[in-house]
Amino acid sequence: MELNILTLIYLIASVTFIIGLKMLSNPAAARKGNLVAAGGMTLAIIGTIFLYKDDAGERLHNYGWIFAGLAIGGIIGTLAAKKVKMTAMPEMVSLFNGMGGACAALISLVEFNHIAHQLSVNNSSEYIRQIQPTVLIIALGLIIGSVSFAGSMIAWGKLNGRIKDFSFPGQNILNLVFLAIALGAAVYLVIDPTQSYLLYVILLISLVYGVLFVMPIGGADMPVVISLLNSFTGVAAACGGFLYDNKVMLTGGILVGAAGTLLTMLMCKAMNRSLKNVLIGSFGGNKTQVAGDAGPQGHFKEISLTDAAMVMSYANKVIIVPGYGLAVAQAQHSCHELEKILNDKGVEVIYAIHPVAGRMPGHMNVLLAEADVAYEKLQEMEQANDEFKTADVVLILGANDVVNPAAKTDPASPIYGMPILEVEQAKTVIVNKRSMKPGYAGIENDLFFQPKTSMLFGDAKKVLQDLCAEVKNV
Ligand code: TAP
Repeated sequence: MELNILTLIYLIASVTFIIGLKMLSNPAAARKGNLVAAGGMTLAIIGTIFLYKDDAGERLHNYGWIFAGLAIGGIIGTLAAKKVKMTAMPEMVSLFNGMGGACAALISLVEFNHIAHQLSVNNSSEYIRQIQPTVLIIALGLIIGSVSFAGSMIAWGKLNGRIKDFSFPGQNILNLVFLAIALGAAVYLVIDPTQSYLLYVILLISLVYGVLFVMPIGGADMPVVISLLNSFTGVAAACGGFLYDNKVMLTGGILVGAAGTLLTMLMCKAMNRSLKNVLIGSFGGNKTQVAGDAGPQGHFKEISLTDAAMVMSYANKVIIVPGYGLAVAQAQHSCHELEKILNDKGVEVIYAIHPVAGRMPGHMNVLLAEADVAYEKLQEMEQANDEFKTADVVLILGANDVVNPAAKTDPASPIYGMPILEVEQAKTVIVNKRSMKPGYAGIENDLFFQPKTSMLFGDAKKVLQDLCAEVKNV
């Protein structure tokens, strides 16, 4: 009866994961979706702790350890999530994802120890045949979990600037050799599970592979890699679900694996690059001298706050392009304020959202939602590109790569082929940033030197606050 209640709990939890994930696809419902899935996960954990029985009918008994672990993890997780800045979110996702990978790898180590213990009592060929599928799952969980852990730790270090990009000639080949050794050792362990030392060979090689695999990847590509590692952790957790015959772990792992894979593919598509190119292309990492990367070129025009306020106040339509700088400056509220003041003057204001503006998927949507900007005012790239020609003013706030025409015109540019917001179709372009420094891809932007572009230098929040005051006075 209790087992049936637990099965029911797992079923409910699995359904909440699916509903939660679906709700995450809409910014208005995302927060609730997260809560729904978290509620399901809490239910599954509590159910497992109190209702689970092993094959011998034994319940869990080491409650002290379980609750101590839950309390420590819960407190650290809550504090970290409350403290984290929006711009440091990919870093935190990476760190937490690494913990998931480590858990999956530890599960494999613990479960193999049980098997090794039984093998010391009975190593008949019949018993070995019986446990081979379990050893296969253990080895897979260990490889994927360790790669995900080591890779995520490196990604975390790179995002917070503690680890620099590092590559050497032949690194990709060496990586393939390491992967082949780990897989070969896994196959050998499955064939002969008495060779338990192989488990530690697999662990070590997978950790080294995880480090080497992420080390050369360029900073701007880290969100894609984090999403890929996230999907690895999901698959590793699903291996745990197989091992324990635990349906909710299996469903959760598969959902994370599938969602991470889809997100990775979507990000690659938004940057118009293949995953292979992201993994071995070193975009935005070891910056090579590329066309236009030799410092500011030509002349650019500056515009004063008063003139910018004037141009916008007399416009019919203003399109705002938010980017990473808006997030850094935490200027979303001032941005919404400007939108309202312009609306009061009869100016139509909409936002053009590039799919990889900022540093993580949906970064701009989340940021603007936080400031209560209406969802219907946000236009996706394709839609916005049709609208720019009807705009009098485009106001770019801390965006750079996503409006760089080199993506269309310069085959030598590392962002060549990435779809961009075609802002130059508008009558006037005003760019707010602090200097002429490049964006994440580390390349010059020709847009800043075009005749219809004017630069409005300063921190986005301060500039927007001043603009609000000026527009009110027009
Ligand atoms: P970036 O190209 O990084 O440009 C941001 C600009 O903001 C910088 O040029 C910077 O110039 C300016 N800035 C920084 N702090 C500022 C502040 N306080 N006030 C005003 N301006 C400030 O950003 P983007 O256009 O949003 O492009 C995103 C980049 O990330 C792309 O290269 C994209 O491929 C990459 N990427 C994103 C994702 C996702 S999913 N979002 C995934 C992978 C890669 P100053 O220093 O002169 O101020």
